[in-house]
Amino acid sequence: MIEAKNGVFNLATPNTSYIFKVGECGVLEHLYYGKRLDAFDAELMSNVQNVKICDATAYDKDHSLLFLDNLMTEFSTEGRGDYRLASMKASYDNGHSVLDFVYETYSITQGIPSMEGLPSVYGDEFCTLEVVLKERLFPLRLRLYYLVSDEKDAIVRFSRVENEGSEDVYIQALASLQLDVPNPYWNLVTLDGAWARERMVCDRPLRPGIHINDSKTGASGAFHNPAIALKAPNATELQGDVIGLNLIYSGNHQESVELSPYGRVRLLTGINPNTFTWRLKAKSSFTAPQAVMVYSDKGLNGMSHEMHRFVNENVCRGPWRDKERPVLVNNWEATYFDFNEEKLLDLADTAKDVGIELFVLDDGWFGEREDDTTSLGDWTANGRKLPNGLAGLSSKLHEKGLMFGIWIEPEMVSEKSRLFERHPDWRIAIPNRKPGVGRNQYILDWTREDVTDYMIACISTLLEESKANYVKWDMNRFFSDFNTQGSDKYFMGEFLHRYVLGFYKVLEALTAKFPDILFEGCASGGNRFDLGVLCYMNQIWTSDDTDVLMRQFIQWGTSFFYPQSVMGCHVSASPNHQSLRISSIEDRFNVAAFGILGYEMDLTRLPSNELDIIKEQIRFYKKNRRLFQFGTFTRDISYFNGGNNLKWLVADEEHLVMLDACMLNVPNMPNDRLVVPLLDAGFNARGTERLLVSSRVQRIDRSRLGDNASKFKEDQRGLGLETSVYAGQLESAGIVLGQRFTGSGDIRLTRIRPDFSTEMYIVDRMMI
Ligand code: GLA
Repeated sequence: MIEAKNGVFNLATPNTSYIFKVGECGVLEHLYYGKRLDAFDAELMSNVQNVKICDATAYDKDHSLLFLDNLMTEFSTEGRGDYRLASMKASYDNGHSVLDFVYETYSITQGIPSMEGLPSVYGDEFCTLEVVLKERLFPLRLRLYYLVSDEKDAIVRFSRVENEGSEDVYIQALASLQLDVPNPYWNLVTLDGAWARERMVCDRPLRPGIHINDSKTGASGAFHNPAIALKAPNATELQGDVIGLNLIYSGNHQESVELSPYGRVRLLTGINPNTFTWRLKAKSSFTAPQAVMVYSDKGLNGMSHEMHRFVNENVCRGPWRDKERPVLVNNWEATYFDFNEEKLLDLADTAKDVGIELFVLDDGWFGEREDDTTSLGDWTANGRKLPNGLAGLSSKLHEKGLMFGIWIEPEMVSEKSRLFERHPDWRIAIPNRKPGVGRNQYILDWTREDVTDYMIACISTLLEESKANYVKWDMNRFFSDFNTQGSDKYFMGEFLHRYVLGFYKVLEALTAKFPDILFEGCASGGNRFDLGVLCYMNQIWTSDDTDVLMRQFIQWGTSFFYPQSVMGCHVSASPNHQSLRISSIEDRFNVAAFGILGYEMDLTRLPSNELDIIKEQIRFYKKNRRLFQFGTFTRDISYFNGGNNLKWLVADEEHLVMLDACMLNVPNMPNDRLVVPLLDAGFNARGTERLLVSSRVQRIDRSRLGDNASKFKEDQRGLGLETSVYAGQLESAGIVLGQRFTGSGDIRLTRIRPDFSTEMYIVDRMMI
């Protein structure tokens, strides 16, 4: 609900209120964001000064108590007395750069305004509040948009600036969203990392000054994901105030969090001003990407649940949105570049036998590609490896009853390629300078219409001819040497944003043309894991790192803002190719099952007992697939606060599955207790209701038992729990589990929990 009365705007969602007003001199004063207020007095929330601040700058002589620096506002500029980072910076050729926007008018409409080439959320439930501000002196108008619904707590925001004059204006910053909050005692939570260790949770108290969370590599990046949260110091996973923000953009972003001298916190998110300047020509407008914000008083999980629902229902789209995603096999870590049709078909046969549904052919199938030095850009089959072409392989896979998926990296070109021979000027480079290189490859200039049009046509032909059902869209390097060699010359500051617009243009065209293809985003693993990508592709490869322990950290962090329905999770070989860690096939599955399951290893070389285990895993996964992919995902306890166990769960009203993982085995500890936060996880049961609790049967990795192996007749790990329990008891007292193996007593009755091992528990309603 959006209410506008006497200059006060009240944006109410089911559980939250966002309130601001037109203040003195037309300044938009932010009043409140938090738990829903059904009734309020705006004056009591307004930060009116009644005495001067000694050295602060007042708005003007006639408004000597209006100090912008000590106000929470909806929008800010530099040079008028607000000394915090500003949401907009711009200048004219003659040097004028001090801007002062004041309220002009507003409108409320059903629906969502067009985003001019940028991705947009969708949903009939949204109404839009548009607040128009006018620069006092210059012919500039600013529009602030707020998308609000009665069904979701997520509020989407963006801004647009219009140049109504006859001179160009240079926009140096335009935040999508500014959020000023009063309490200085927040913790800032960010998702930081790098290749193979993406989205590690970093949680620290805010300190005076500015924290910048950004990307300058050209993509949203694995260094700092665009999603951030503010968390009250006493907030936990399950209770307390949390505000989460995420930007719907795949390029360079910046989130700044500033704790000002007056104890206010300002959050800004948008395109990174450090790598951006936009020449806003006369009579034109510039739109900043959308950003989404959520407030919850139910802790980090409360924020995540809202974000997940929003991503599943208002970001992801198309025929695949609500469909259960297929279990796949990917040949990358099975073969790397060394394969031929025969080898692939062998892998496909084994995959089919164990219940896999989709075969994904990864890198190395095109041009002359035998390693990563050649052929990017030449999207036709390598005749030596695939004598029957892609169409031949695809039809054989289809005959076997498997779907066919294909890897592409269409934004790139290799120097050794036919495409580069024909169009050397299509790569991003500065004339007369050797461009920087990443993974032996260069980036195509997707700011150019001719290049993007070519690639839409080229990939369309590939998808039509190969009859692919799935695409893995990769992007494996950072940007450098930004410069367009074509006829359109752009300022360097425009280049990276124009590139991102080109990326969206190609994705828009291909996903519209091939709506039934399932697209999975990828960028050296999870280097472009963002909501912009998810507006076009329904899933993203979470990380190249599939190690059993690292994946717990990576999936934990990713789940703060992204649901498991978008996370590609594969079971790969042991020792793991990224960490060399040894783990059992059961533990690898137990972690990967909480996402879109795949297998990425040479199944043809596994012993038959492991194939039997995989067959059983896939049967179990398919039976619970809706829950694993679309159930409510809740984090419980983790290693982050020094613990040795991690627990997360997926649930719907009827059914719940929980992962219990441990880091290091410590012998002779007290018995573990199985305690399950049913209600918080969305499983509604009365305390006196009896529930059925069981553990997933797992096979023992006998090589881990050493000399004890012969003492175990049963090949089954642990005690194979199956019992009924009162719901209230399971939530509080829990069930005391059997002892862990310690090497004494009758060891056959113990639970085998070596380092990095996992257990999976299932809770069902009792059938009456
Ligand atoms: C990237 C991806 C991998 C794989 C390779 C192929 O690193 O993240 O999954 O596709 O490229 O070159």
